[in-house]
Amino acid sequence: MSELIRFGISIEDTLLEKFDRLIQERNYSNRSEAIRDLIRNELVQEQWQDSETEAVGTITIIYDHHVRDLTQVLTRVQHDFNEQIISTLHVHLDHHHCLEILAVKGQTKIIRKIADKLISLKGVKHGKLVMTTQGERV
Ligand code: NI
Repeated sequence: MSELIRFGISIEDTLLEKFDRLIQERNYSNRSEAIRDLIRNELVQEQWQDSETEAVGTITIIYDHHVRDLTQVLTRVQHDFNEQIISTLHVHLDHHHCLEILAVKGQTKIIRKIADKLISLKGVKHGKLVMTTQGERV
């Protein structure tokens, strides 16, 4: 178990005012929790620089299922990476559009590769990869 340590921060008043407004908008109950999250976020970003690092995340894509061969290609990619894609959620948004959310787990370089592959496909209108961590090193 880690213990809590208190430390002081010197900061310009104008910057602190902006920070306080921001954390209020984001519903933080106090500065400490907001600063802890900022630090964790930076540490997670740093981990992703190491492409061998294990990460978990989601790939969200919106696509037009009428685009020729797209559905088959999407299925093929998902089967090719069945070790990393651990779950999927499919929503038929309207007559044309599907929303697909893929939960992924594995080395960051492979996760990025899967996301790039899916998001760049013709017919995929928008896509976003969100990577996070299980937290062992944060
Ligand atoms: Ni659909």
